[in-house]
Amino acid sequence: MAETTRIALDGKPIDLPADASLAAGLIGHRELVCGRSPSGRLRAPLCGMGICHECRATVDGRPGVRTCLEPARGVRTVERETRLPAAEAAWTRSERAVDVLVVGAGPAGLAAAAEAGERGRRVLVVDDNRAAGGQIWRGKTGRAGELEQRCSRAGVEFLARTSLALRLGERHLRLVGPREVLDLRCSAIVLASGATERFLPFPGWELPGVLGLGGLQALIKDGLDVRGRRVVLAGSGPLLLAVAALVQQRGGLVRRVAEQAPNDRVAGFVLGLAAHPSKLAQALALRVRLGSVPFAYSNWPLEARGAGRLETLTLRRPSGTESIDCDLAGIGFGLLPNARPAALLGCRLERGAVAVDPAQETSVEGVFAAGECTGVGGLDKALLEGRSAGAAAAGDRDLARALAGRLARERRFAARLEQAFALRDELRALPRPETIVCRCEDVRWGELASRPDWTDAKLQTRCGMGPCQGRVCAPALEFLRGWAVGDARPPLVPVPCGALVHPPGTGADGA
Ligand SMILES: Cc1cc2nc3c(=O)[nH]c(=O)nc-3n(C[C@H](O)[C@H](O)[C@H](O)COP(=O)(O)OP(=O)(O)OC[C@H]3O[C@@H](n4cnc5c(N)ncnc54)[C@H](O)[C@@H]3O)c2cc1C
Ligand code: FES
Repeated sequence: MAETTRIALDGKPIDLPADASLAAGLIGHRELVCGRSPSGRLRAPLCGMGICHECRATVDGRPGVRTCLEPARGVRTVERETRLPAAEAAWTRSERAVDVLVVGAGPAGLAAAAEAGERGRRVLVVDDNRAAGGQIWRGKTGRAGELEQRCSRAGVEFLARTSLALRLGERHLRLVGPREVLDLRCSAIVLASGATERFLPFPGWELPGVLGLGGLQALIKDGLDVRGRRVVLAGSGPLLLAVAALVQQRGGLVRRVAEQAPNDRVAGFVLGLAAHPSKLAQALALRVRLGSVPFAYSNWPLEARGAGRLETLTLRRPSGTESIDCDLAGIGFGLLPNARPAALLGCRLERGAVAVDPAQETSVEGVFAAGECTGVGGLDKALLEGRSAGAAAAGDRDLARALAGRLARERRFAARLEQAFALRDELRALPRPETIVCRCEDVRWGELASRPDWTDAKLQTRCGMGPCQGRVCAPALEFLRGWAVGDARPPLVPVPCGALVHPPGTGADGA
């Protein structure tokens, strides 16, 4: 039997799986709610990966802890909260230098670190998650383990639960951990910050039990027990199949998989996979594994309903609507490059992704980028780009030249993916005037109607000004209103004031 750990939730003792994240353990225990929004509405985890801040609670007296990033093991008390994080007094501060800093320990970051380390460079990898492996591996299994072994043989250092927060100067950065501040100088930087999920607001999407699609996947991988739970998955992209297979494999009941794209577009995409036999085989194997799971095209979520938690999800179908009873829903409308770290460092972006040269160098000398942050294209692209970037950061551009042909093929695949799962116009009509768009600040769709752009919306309504810093509502409004939202203001992640106070002799650009 799995090891458990006892915590007091608002003073009430409950047992959670010790290896789960706190959020995953709590949801598995049917404790969906983590706190309340500024106007008192119930709030519960959405993204499962540290983006939305909807899972914040006070953990062992520390307010504002994102429970999806916090291991359950060792925690004694959790209090659901309404307050914002307070500044903490005790910070450990240090300064040091390395040759190569890698931001992100997903496939791209690990591949880059291994290549740079094997070329004799002192490499530090940081990731805001509690384990290496990124979104796909989330831990030491299979290829993540192999890459980590290569990194460890090459002397690569890894700091978990540590975020890039500030640019202090040229290749001089501030990294922030749970209680540590590290000011780091480096000769080269590899940004491998991955992707985030696009959420679109629809009536009821903030009800506890409605999660992101990748969020549900992340929480299951982090220990959420879905045995016997009725689950509906909706949105767009190949992640729908991957999450359906995971829910089924872990004993959940997938009641419907609803893809917004039309059948003929997806069929064309699958036929095009003939040029990528291993991806075609993967897709077919997934479909076969899913067997009798009901899968529908040109379907999308219209409304979530329930008394304090999700009970029914209504889908728009070509022939009308259908309401399905369920306990959990995973809803996501594709992935977007996480180009915020690159924007912070002044790198040029193109169509929301980091622009790179053939050796993965960005427009800023000595700053490289690899993986989903340069354009969403999947695991193989991330690994190839990571290898090229790591070698180039260590001064070797030959590897990038050798891998160019394979990479071009992966980028063609990425372009086809984007085309096949492009979002349909009807989704722009999802929110109603009373629908919450900015979950952090409770800003409704109706309040945004007269706002001409993102900056005005932020100034006049506080949309995007809460702890998630617009990571959830900005991509939604980019699609819904066509607003340009691509800024990244320091600090890149919300940090207590104590982490922003400079030790003597340093200064933060614009902080
Ligand atoms: C939610 C989600 C689920 C996915 N599920 C699948 C799947 O099931 N199958 C599949 O084939 N592909 C999946 N993908 C796509 C998958 O991420 C890519 O195929 C590939 O793994 C990307 O690798 P990467 O290294 O570029 O990024 P990632 O694996 O996303 O790694 C990036 C890492 O950077 C970290 N990071 C970001 N910003 C900072 C910062 N400021 N400071 C410190 N660390 C930071 C992130 O926490 C993350 O761990 C998923 C993507 C997402 C977003
Ligand atoms: S669920 Fe924890 S930050 Fe989104």
